[in-house]
Amino acid sequence: MKQLKIGLFFILIALQACKNKVEEQKAILDTAKTDYYMEPYRPQFHFSPEKMWMNDPNGLVYHQGVYHLFYQYYPDDIVWGPMHWGHAVSTDLVHWQHKPIALYPDELGFIFSGSAVVDENNTSGFGSDGNPALVAIFTYHDMKGEKAGRDDFQTQGIAYSLDNGDTWTKFEGNPVLGNEGIRDFRDPKVMWHEPSQSWVMTLVAGDHAKFYTSKNLKDWELTGEFGKDQGAHGGVWECPDLFQLQVEGTDEKKWALIISINPGAPNGGSGTQYFIGDFDGKTFTSDQKESRWIDWGTDNYAGITYNNVPNDERIFVGWMSNWDYARDTPTEKWRSAMTVPRKFSLKKVGDTYGLINYPVASLENLREEGIKKTLRLKAGEKDSVTFDHFNQAEVEFTTVTKDFRLVFKNDKEEQLVLTLDSERSIFYLDRTQSGETGFQENFGNRVQEMPIEHLPKDDFEVRILLDHSSVEVFIDKGQYVMTAQVFPNKYYTLLDIENTSDTILEFKNFEIHRVKGIW
Ligand code: FRU
Repeated sequence: MKQLKIGLFFILIALQACKNKVEEQKAILDTAKTDYYMEPYRPQFHFSPEKMWMNDPNGLVYHQGVYHLFYQYYPDDIVWGPMHWGHAVSTDLVHWQHKPIALYPDELGFIFSGSAVVDENNTSGFGSDGNPALVAIFTYHDMKGEKAGRDDFQTQGIAYSLDNGDTWTKFEGNPVLGNEGIRDFRDPKVMWHEPSQSWVMTLVAGDHAKFYTSKNLKDWELTGEFGKDQGAHGGVWECPDLFQLQVEGTDEKKWALIISINPGAPNGGSGTQYFIGDFDGKTFTSDQKESRWIDWGTDNYAGITYNNVPNDERIFVGWMSNWDYARDTPTEKWRSAMTVPRKFSLKKVGDTYGLINYPVASLENLREEGIKKTLRLKAGEKDSVTFDHFNQAEVEFTTVTKDFRLVFKNDKEEQLVLTLDSERSIFYLDRTQSGETGFQENFGNRVQEMPIEHLPKDDFEVRILLDHSSVEVFIDKGQYVMTAQVFPNKYYTLLDIENTSDTILEFKNFEIHRVKGIW
């Protein structure tokens, strides 16, 4: 009996030890889970890679219910290096699932930016009836050629996937487009052009865009050029995109060409300009004289739109950084994030076509209950709102007031200041005191400006997304947009709203929401 008791005692101890072990393990797992994507400055509702360096979005394509996001990726460091295509997928453009690296560098070079198409009619012969291939079209950057001082080190290659992007095979006939001596010859964006039953590739060549057509994605013929003497030319042209949009409220259709440029953006460094015009299957033309920008902030670069989205929707994603300081931002495990996906539309105001970009509707599903009120302030008056989650929030209101200042603050005397000034017709984004700014001289050395000449006379909307290290401002539903990174040392928890007009300020439907994290 005594032996039995001792035996039971030891079994109980062993069981308890086991239980403790399991609980310990569980605790470790739980912490691992809660620590995931919780590093300082880690965006909670924007896409960022788990670790290491990321730049441009690539190969944006929708296929069989899946939005693919490929991106320029260097898996071995948090600075730019030999480029791969990283990969993630989403079914709602909000939640993302990481996938293995899609394309690795090979003997022809690093894999630079490009696009992806669904080869529905199997023009390439890579797919089969009922299983069309996804075809990626990208730039090969041959480092050896560049180092040797040659001019022909960028060529275009293709690869295909028969399992909706999970695995890729490079075409053995690469490159499909050689280089006759243009140093910057890259970033192919390919689309299917229905009227001519052809593929059209838009490519940049230093200071202009070139257009090529193909019947099979393998043989390409030059058909036109655009831009040598149009638009902004403060830097090299990169990452083009060409697509058609219907002008809102009409049957008219126009073509838009977007071109990233680095440097030469209105607030310094990298930025993305656009042209509205026509495309005849061979070349693009536009009578636009002035330079126009899809986003006036410093941190929306190299963006392109999705191919193949149902209902001809044009969804855009940009890289939320700037080559001026992309390599210096104060994150440790990874570098940079993408903008929220935005829907493009075209609006005619007077004689001018404006390209509008506004967050996709599915993003609103992340809003939690928050503060809602109407705000009325007399001339010169100020109000303050405290909210624990301005680091991960949406602030939104409609107003007719065109003179106000919004100051997001923390208790370290850091502040992000947004000012609308109707007399000057300028919206200002001031991050000079927003937190860490000293990591590179161009980050915090100026107040960013955006001209806002055509604000409506009546109510317009202001919507602001804040996500740990970024702010995106959409005025009048995406007519005026500014995107910028910020690195506060503590979360902003106070918002001052100042009426800088000489009449009553009224913010209707003034709402502040915490935004759910997606990771
Ligand atoms: C734009 C860009 C592209 C190029 C890629 C290289 O940011 O310079 O022109 O393909 O990045 O990573």
